[in-house]
Amino acid sequence: MENRGLGGRRRRGLRELVRTPRALSRPEGPCSIVIVGAGALARDSISVFDAVCRAGAPWRLLGFLDEREQLWGERYFDLPVLGPLSWLDRAPAGAHIFIGVGDPAARRRLAADVAARGLPFCTVVHPGVEASPWVRIGTGCIIFAGCTLTVEVELGEHVVVNPQCSLAHDVCVGAYSYISPGVDLAGKVRLEEEVFMGTGAAVIPGRRIGRGAVIGAGAVVIDDIPPGVTAVGVPARAVKPEGGRVERS
Ligand SMILES: CC(C)(COP(=O)(O)OP(=O)(O)OC[C@H]1O[C@@H](n2cnc3c(N)ncnc32)[C@H](O)[C@@H]1OP(=O)(O)O)[C@@H](O)C(=O)NCCC(=O)NCCS
Repeated sequence: MENRGLGGRRRRGLRELVRTPRALSRPEGPCSIVIVGAGALARDSISVFDAVCRAGAPWRLLGFLDEREQLWGERYFDLPVLGPLSWLDRAPAGAHIFIGVGDPAARRRLAADVAARGLPFCTVVHPGVEASPWVRIGTGCIIFAGCTLTVEVELGEHVVVNPQCSLAHDVCVGAYSYISPGVDLAGKVRLEEEVFMGTGAAVIPGRRIGRGAVIGAGAVVIDDIPPGVTAVGVPARAVKPEGGRVERS
C-alpha cells in the first residue's frame, strides 16, 4: 500500500486531511468510455457513471458492447448497443473500457481480451462512497453508492462493490471478485481472486475466502472457506464442493 504520508501532513490535522475531497475515478481527464456487456451490471453501472459525470468527470459514454446480435441497435438510457466486442478494433483513440459483466470468470476473460487490444480501463467510484485516503483501488473497479471503505483496504483489479457494502480495516479483495449489495466484510478479511459474495452476506474478522468460492445471500461466514466451494447459511456451511459452481444471479 502506498505510503500517503500522514506524518508529513500532520500540520494540517487529521480532521482536515480526511475531509479533503478525493476523486477516485480514473482517468481524471477527458475520455470516451465503452461498457462491455449490456446486462445487469452494465445497466446498473450507469448510475455510477451518471453520478461521476455530474460531479465533473469530463467523460463521454459511447455505449455498450454485447455478443447478442438481437441487442445491437437497442438503446439503454439513451446509449446504443454498438455491436460485439470486435467493435473495439475500431474504437476511437483514447477510449477507455469498463467491463460491465458481473460473473468473475467471464469478467477476467473479457478484461484479457480488451487488454490484448491494448485498450485502457476506467475505474468508476461513486462520489458518495466513503473512502479514507488509506484505500487502494485497482484499475477497472466499480464502487456503487453508499459503500464505506475505512483504512488499509485494498481492492485488486476489476473488483465490483455493489451498493451499501462495508469494508473495514485491512480488508483485501482479490481481482475480479464480485461483492453483491449490502455485504459486510469485517477487519482483516481476505477474499482471494474471483470470489462471489451474495447479497447481504457477512464475514467475521480475519477470515479468508478461497479463490472462486461462492457465498450465498444472507450467509454469515465464521470459518475460512476453501477455494471453489459454495457456502450458504448462518453460519455458512459448504453445500457444493470445489468445481460445483452454480448460477449466481
Ligand atoms: C448460493 C447460491 C449461489 C446457490 O445457488 P444454487 O447452486 O442454484 O443453489 P441450490 O438452489 O441448488 O441450493 C443448494 C442448497 O443450498 C440452499 N441455499 C441456496 N442458497 C441459499 C442461501 N442463500 N441461504 C441458505 N440456503 C441456501 C438451498 O436451499 C439448497 O438446499 P437443499 O440442498 O437442502 O435443498 C444462491 O442460492 C445464492 O444465494 N445466490 C446469491 C445471488 C445474489 O445475491 N445475487 C446478487 C446479484 S447483485
